[in-house]
Amino acid sequence: PTVTIADDNSTVTAKLPSGEEVTVLLHGATVLSWKAAGGQELLWLSEGAVLDGSKPVRGGIPLVFPVFGPPPKNHATSSLPQHGFARSSRWEYLGKSSTEAQSTTSDNSIKLDFGLYSTALSAEARKAWPYDFGLVYSVTLSKEGLQTMVTVQNEGKEAFEFQVLLHTYFRVKDISKTTVTGLAGLPFIDKVANATQGNPAPTVTFSGEVDRVYTNIPQSTTSILDADGKPYIDVVRDNLSDTVVWNPWTEKAKGMGDFQPKDGFKHMVCVEAGAVEGWTKLEAGETWEGGMLAKSHL
Ligand code: BG6
Repeated sequence: PTVTIADDNSTVTAKLPSGEEVTVLLHGATVLSWKAAGGQELLWLSEGAVLDGSKPVRGGIPLVFPVFGPPPKNHATSSLPQHGFARSSRWEYLGKSSTEAQSTTSDNSIKLDFGLYSTALSAEARKAWPYDFGLVYSVTLSKEGLQTMVTVQNEGKEAFEFQVLLHTYFRVKDISKTTVTGLAGLPFIDKVANATQGNPAPTVTFSGEVDRVYTNIPQSTTSILDADGKPYIDVVRDNLSDTVVWNPWTEKAKGMGDFQPKDGFKHMVCVEAGAVEGWTKLEAGETWEGGMLAKSHL
């Protein structure tokens, strides 16, 4: 595998001999691009995404931590911005480790590690969430897919609570013909209707704004099917029991300055693996790990 660091030290790109490729922006440790062996892009990135670190990236895989959505009142995260600080902080590239193929049949993978520590946070974020922590984000590219794992370490003397979510924007050919499976029969929080709903439908389909939070999902895989009903991408959760499904559709897309082109919602779906129901409590000195493996059927 080859690893290239951009001249301006803003991105790290890894490529496998078989053609798969991933690019990570140090701002937010945001995965910007994930390509299948044949070069097909699997993630959606807005043409208006701001990549200079002045705001979170619209597209790719922004990492949500330590709070999902607008922070609740009367919680330690109350003063943080929506979705926390991880996606708006500059991460450190910690290095790579790889397994080389011994033969054409054996696997070949590369892992890129990124770190964010409380000591490196902006003064503002540190003041809003004054805990001592270390985050390591490991992005592993293999023929099987793209694995993104988050390790949270409490390096302080008191417990803290967090939520975490991999806010993945997958690229799809046609949202009106895309379906999401693996959530059948589960109740969900409908952020559009502002209510909790049952879900009698066997699949999630898209014909308007969708913003749903599924929690405590028993099975570990949620799949995106393409227009022909064929499996396209599987999202396999690891130690994460929740999934957010989001598409902003026409009006919400119009309202986001960095969402370009405006009809780009036709070519994306967010299937976001996370732990966003209540809080994960981490005692002093403890470590937590969770993440996902996105497998492409291309
Ligand atoms: C989703 C939320 O995860 O993120 C939506 O469920 C939200 O409610 C969306 O609109 C995008 O958030 P942001 O902060 O990136 O505009």
